[in-house]
Amino acid sequence: MAYPHGHERNIFVREPPEIFGLAAKWIRGAMNTGLNQGSCSIALAGGNTPRPVYALLAAQPLVEQIDWTRVSVYWGDERAVPPDSPDSNYGMARDVLLSKVPVPAAHIHRMEAERADIEAAARDYDRQLPEALDVLVLGVGPDGHTASIFPGSPLMKETRRVAAITDSPKPPPRRLTITPPVIAAARAIVVVATGADKAKVIARALDGPEHPLELPIQLARRGAWFLDPAAASALRGVNQ
Ligand code: 6PG
Repeated sequence: MAYPHGHERNIFVREPPEIFGLAAKWIRGAMNTGLNQGSCSIALAGGNTPRPVYALLAAQPLVEQIDWTRVSVYWGDERAVPPDSPDSNYGMARDVLLSKVPVPAAHIHRMEAERADIEAAARDYDRQLPEALDVLVLGVGPDGHTASIFPGSPLMKETRRVAAITDSPKPPPRRLTITPPVIAAARAIVVVATGADKAKVIARALDGPEHPLELPIQLARRGAWFLDPAAASALRGVNQ
């Protein structure tokens, strides 16, 4: 199906857990595209949905198909909680994936959103980010947010690459997040979403008029989307 900007729709729909396996394999492919040039940078999403995808990347056979010693890991957003909090996006990825793969500790770039000077933390993280991420994993909220860019957010016009927010509608209110230029620069984007509560927003994101200020996840339209049938149920013309 033709798509605005000449991009093909890249939507995969399967029941879980198959959809997570498909997403994990796609991420392996995108990581290896970077690794074939020497190294790979990947930014991980928080939230619950990617957890099984990360677990598959850490398990056989995929774990042996990625040279994690040459991978650098970043995050799309982080909540202002310490790294050991159950709400830490870093903590989730560490427990499920990073503690199980041979990624060098110096290659793990945690967002330090718990710092008192969160603006300084944002500036520091901007300096760590590569010019373009090889792989950017994103989630989507039922309101259309992605990373911690929420609908109507002034961050939609932000030119700095990392920003602090203190008024997130999804708790906790204080967070660090990448901004639209980072999504625009990413070489490959993957969106993973499941559940009927996201069906409407996914249909608006992919089939609706382009209005990323209202629907920040539209910044990821050109990405590869991995959906379960419930999340894809309101989309037009998807072969399920
Ligand atoms: C966060 C996120 C956020 C998340 C979506 C989807 O820190 O909360 O990174 O953008 O990806 O809200 O979350 P779920 O996967 O839990 O639905």
